[in-house]
Amino acid sequence: MNFVNFHLGPGGMLRGECRVAGDKSISHRAVMLGSIATGMTRIRGFLEAEDAISTLNAFRAMGVDIRRPDQGEVEIQGRGTRGLNAPESPLDLGNSGTSMRLLCGLLAGQEFDSLLIGDPSLSRRPMQRVTRPLALMGGRIDTSGQGTAPLYIHGGRHLTGIEYELPEASAQVKSCLLLAGLYAEGMTSITEPAVTRDHTERMLRGFSYPVRRQGNRVSLTGGDSLIGTEIEVPADISSAAFFMVGASIAPGSEVLLRHVGINPTRTGIIEILNQMGADMELENVREAGGEPVADIRVKSANLKGIRIPQELVPLAIDEFPVLLVAASCAEGETVLTGARELRVKESDRIQGMLDGLLELGIDAIASDDGMVIRGGRLCGGEVDSRGDHRIAMAFSIAALRANEDILIRDCANVNTSFPGFVEMARTLGLKISSEESRQ
Ligand code: S3P
Repeated sequence: MNFVNFHLGPGGMLRGECRVAGDKSISHRAVMLGSIATGMTRIRGFLEAEDAISTLNAFRAMGVDIRRPDQGEVEIQGRGTRGLNAPESPLDLGNSGTSMRLLCGLLAGQEFDSLLIGDPSLSRRPMQRVTRPLALMGGRIDTSGQGTAPLYIHGGRHLTGIEYELPEASAQVKSCLLLAGLYAEGMTSITEPAVTRDHTERMLRGFSYPVRRQGNRVSLTGGDSLIGTEIEVPADISSAAFFMVGASIAPGSEVLLRHVGINPTRTGIIEILNQMGADMELENVREAGGEPVADIRVKSANLKGIRIPQELVPLAIDEFPVLLVAASCAEGETVLTGARELRVKESDRIQGMLDGLLELGIDAIASDDGMVIRGGRLCGGEVDSRGDHRIAMAFSIAALRANEDILIRDCANVNTSFPGFVEMARTLGLKISSEESRQ
């Protein structure tokens, strides 16, 4: 089997301007809603990465005519909410949890059966968080004995709306139920324990579908139709996060990250870095396609350890691998709690980050739902990314403050969210190279 490893030289700084890859969450949703809308949907800035392509291929397999005229451009001839065809083979969603959980909701209301499969990482992730509430709506989904994929979704079920309190703060579960709610009789209402990303709600409105929000409760009534639209996908703040931290921790750095999505349900990274003493400015704040965007200028700064407020955790949930690298370069202690969800991401990110940080000489202790890190000196070493894209990129950034080379194993999945990371990081000043090895 071939593995991709990253080699990092120590030190350096980040300087320059870039526009990172398109937002993954928005790209998935644009394809899903465009496919079940009536008329044409045109997407610009689409994330051309494995995860979003998994969603796109799933809809092609259900008969949707999807064209890709140019880099980042997608044109979808929508088939209406009842226009999808039964797929002829299982829908393979690769590494993508968002594809699987959201599709599960959308497919629970179809007339046909479907089977969702994924790679070994996705096949270990918990799916009962979506199959249980879908069963309450009248859906029928078979899982493995462990409550994981493969998911066999029975078609021809009559769904009815529910009033559901989410046990965990999860935008994927909320979105899954909203998509099922489109096919349900009556109203579907979801109350979240903490605010999570609201791209589904915003985008449904962009497709002329009414969605109501009162406090932490979001509701829609099934049976209406969606009307095709134009979508501009901003650069992904979760990808920009690597360079925000890199520029903050490497003395002499200054980067301008262009056209980054700054939806307030995603900006926990900015808030947390600011509390740590980062030097960041939002320039040219504007609205693009229903989502706020800005250019973000980041200069190096002396970061301080903080106790991360728990209410910010869901707003920065994907950024913790790199935030823990920032903490390891900060003065004093950083305490993360209330982040148990990190244990069920593409890998167990608490364990993966702990192992890597300890390997690089940082003093850290993990708990069930977080970590305590004492800032210190990073040395070189060998780190296993566990096939997790965000862990691979986080440790690449750590090299800016290391005193020797770092080798990061198993990095091929960086292509699931940020193709071109190595080249862009190198252009900004990271001493990174990628090589394939046989193992
Ligand atoms: C996502 C929601 C989050 C996030 C994931 C993308 C989404 O997952 O970690 O990368 O697009 O809705 P959870 O809903 O499991 O927190």
